[in-house]
Amino acid sequence: MSYVNKEVIKNKTLKEFMEVLVFENKESGSLYAAQVIANKVLMNNSVNEETVLGLATGSTPTDMYKALIEINKSGVSFSRIITYNLDEYYPMKKSSPHSYHYYMYDHFFQHVDIHEENIFIPNGEIKNEDLSKFCEEYELSIRRNGGIDIQVLGLGLNGHIGFNEPGFSMDSLTQKVTLSDTTRTAAVKYFGKKEEVPFQAISMGISTILSADHIMMMAWGNEKAEIVKESIEGQLSKDVPGTYLQTHKNVTIILDAESASKLDNDRISLIESKLS
Ligand code: F6R
Repeated sequence: MSYVNKEVIKNKTLKEFMEVLVFENKESGSLYAAQVIANKVLMNNSVNEETVLGLATGSTPTDMYKALIEINKSGVSFSRIITYNLDEYYPMKKSSPHSYHYYMYDHFFQHVDIHEENIFIPNGEIKNEDLSKFCEEYELSIRRNGGIDIQVLGLGLNGHIGFNEPGFSMDSLTQKVTLSDTTRTAAVKYFGKKEEVPFQAISMGISTILSADHIMMMAWGNEKAEIVKESIEGQLSKDVPGTYLQTHKNVTIILDAESASKLDNDRISLIESKLS
């Protein structure tokens, strides 16, 4: 079932669904995001139900993973968590330190009591001819597990969510995608040289993302301020996939003071400030 509210898109009165929370810094915003996840997990654990999470990589969620590891150590079991990652470079060996597979184990999975069989990450090693089958199966698997409860997102400098680059339509599903030049340039800090950055990736689609019950998008720092503003306050546009979030009924945008700094004043009044 999709939670996209078509009525709202038509009327373009989109923003009232968005909860925008501004925190002191990345650490406190990340702690809040981790606590939202932990509350959901605790609730589901108490009735022996699974919690299905959609997860992101990159620099944005690193402190959230640190906080989740601490929460797990403090006794909240993650043994009933099922995770689906947003994306993976293609082609990409799982063992490569540049893979999102490696990132997820390094930053999160190897430190918590999640079961290996509950971890789903797009497979950057899949043969090209098997790729579309793999993507279909990824979608089916999410649905078989009851859909994503909480989808964690970062925001690309060009407004991409997952690796859904500007121009992608709202009904896209998990597929092989071509990375934009902006995205490849942003990845140079991890790969060292631009020539090393893959041209393609496998990404969950926009529609897949928007099917989650709850979306939590985080963004930190001045460099994200402009695209945060466009995504939250701009007109719905395929040129800025972040604007698609305006159509979802249950979105929480988690910002620090810098990434929130360009939001309009009349918008600020709708923001619950978590600044001390
Ligand atoms: C990562 C992902 C991307 C990133 C985005 C922001 O799995 O899907 O959309 O969230 O590129 O990247 P950072 O967090 O490195 O600024």
